[in-house]
Amino acid sequence: MNYITLNNGEKMPQLGFGVYQIPNEETEEAVYQAIVAGYRLIDTAISYGNEAEVGAGVARAIAEGLVSREDLFITTKLFVNNVFNQETAATAIDESMTKLGLTYIDLVLLHQPYGDTYGAWRALATAQANGRVKSIGISNFDAAQMIEFTRMNDVKITPQINQIEINPWNQRKSDLAWHEKYHVQAEAWAPFAEGRHNLFTNPVLSEIAEKHQKSVGQVVLRWLMQRGVVALAKSTKPERMRENLNIFDFELADTEMDKIAELDMKESAFFDHHDPKIVEWFLDRIETK
Ligand SMILES: NC(=O)c1ccc[n+]([C@@H]2O[C@H](COP(=O)([O-])OP(=O)(O)OC[C@H]3O[C@@H](n4cnc5c(N)ncnc54)[C@H](OP(=O)(O)O)[C@@H]3O)[C@@H](O)[C@H]2O)c1
Repeated sequence: MNYITLNNGEKMPQLGFGVYQIPNEETEEAVYQAIVAGYRLIDTAISYGNEAEVGAGVARAIAEGLVSREDLFITTKLFVNNVFNQETAATAIDESMTKLGLTYIDLVLLHQPYGDTYGAWRALATAQANGRVKSIGISNFDAAQMIEFTRMNDVKITPQINQIEINPWNQRKSDLAWHEKYHVQAEAWAPFAEGRHNLFTNPVLSEIAEKHQKSVGQVVLRWLMQRGVVALAKSTKPERMRENLNIFDFELADTEMDKIAELDMKESAFFDHHDPKIVEWFLDRIETK
């Protein structure tokens, strides 16, 4: 496993396990199996509704002596309804710690670029100062929003992480350059674009995979590693969990990186966070929480 050092000196694994869309009743086992497979970074969120199950999987792995708490890097995210103001954010951090069953969380992110993000950031800064949260960051901020937030937040903390969609269809080349300039580590969600646009059978990716005797999934994750991005892969199948981790014994040549670069469609495989309909959709979800 490669480790990345964040702008506050904390280290995190470059490859992690995401639990979005894993059914609640499968989450504890999936997290436990992921730790057995070798994952040390686990990514959840309040909106996934499975923090308690993630905590149970982590607790089981620790109780069985597979890992110690310090070996693990657990991420959660505050949803839009937690980002009304500083107080709602502070309460949400407390509730997440309780649900996860942890005395500290390694990374807490603002899940979406909506709401009183500056107020919530103060709550995160306080939790970080108290040692209850080690690193703090943002998610789904584009480069322009990241720059403004980094320079205008009144606690003067540069986010350690910005977790954004990055995959072969939406490569974010310019965004990554801006993140490097501001020392904000980029982290990729949906590295496989959840299989959209037939990612797993794409001819260019398949040819590269065949040459290295690897799978398309492994090539995509390796491509992200070589771009200096932290990546989250999700699978409920232990065999695929292991497959996705087995990417540190080969290297893509520059010509292969160039071929993958040509696949860039420069737009989300899912939705645009600036689309008014999407903003409405996110805000509508607050009422259902
Ligand atoms: N910050 C955000 O807004 C945000 C948004 C989305 C996701 N995320 C985070 O990022 C993580 C990853 O993204 P994601 O779960 O949306 O999508 P993803 O990792 O791009 O794709 C997951 C899909 O790929 C399949 N898969 C995994 N490995 C495979 C392999 N080696 N070969 C073939 N198929 C494979 C999985 O199926 P099986 O499970 O059946 O194997 C699943 O259907 C999430 O779990 C979450 O933690 C964050």
